[in-house]
Amino acid sequence: MLDSTQVDLIQSTFDKVVPVAGVAAEVFYSRLFEIDPSLRQLFRGDMQQQGKKLMDALAIVVGNLLKLDRVMPGIRAMGARHARYGVKDEDYAAVGAALLWTLEHCLGDDFTEAAEDAWAAAYKLLANAMKGAAAMAVA
Ligand code: HEM
Repeated sequence: MLDSTQVDLIQSTFDKVVPVAGVAAEVFYSRLFEIDPSLRQLFRGDMQQQGKKLMDALAIVVGNLLKLDRVMPGIRAMGARHARYGVKDEDYAAVGAALLWTLEHCLGDDFTEAAEDAWAAAYKLLANAMKGAAAMAVA
């Protein structure tokens, strides 16, 4: 569970990323493929479109952090789809690291330690829900 201070921090920092979402998505994927070049082959479509989908999904989750139960079915369905894309549990660590790196890159000093901790906790929640649904989908 995230507390309300963490939710505020995540929402206020995400608001600052939204105007530069296109650049953020580009930074994110280049960092991700630097961390793990083998993930590149999982992506088959246009990366600009993919970046937009990622940012839109994040916007929905970030906007609903105080009522996660409302978006949980969507998150779980997304996790199940990711299993079909060939995404493995261990790949979530690279995505989490690339996400935090991107936020730091885009936000500079606004990405405080408390903001980083809050984002890491939120990503863990999201990734665990997706991985749980992926395991169910595969089983
Ligand atoms: C919290 C984490 C994540 C979020 C919010 C997210 C978001 C999305 C969204 C919105 C899509 C569009 C298609 C769909 O909705 O099913 C997508 C596709 C995809 N994601 Fe993720 N994702 C996450 C984690 C990951 C991880 C860990 C990987 C591992 C590399 C990954 C790889 C992919 C791939 C390969 C596709 C399909 C690309 C294609 O169609 O060519 N995602 N993701």
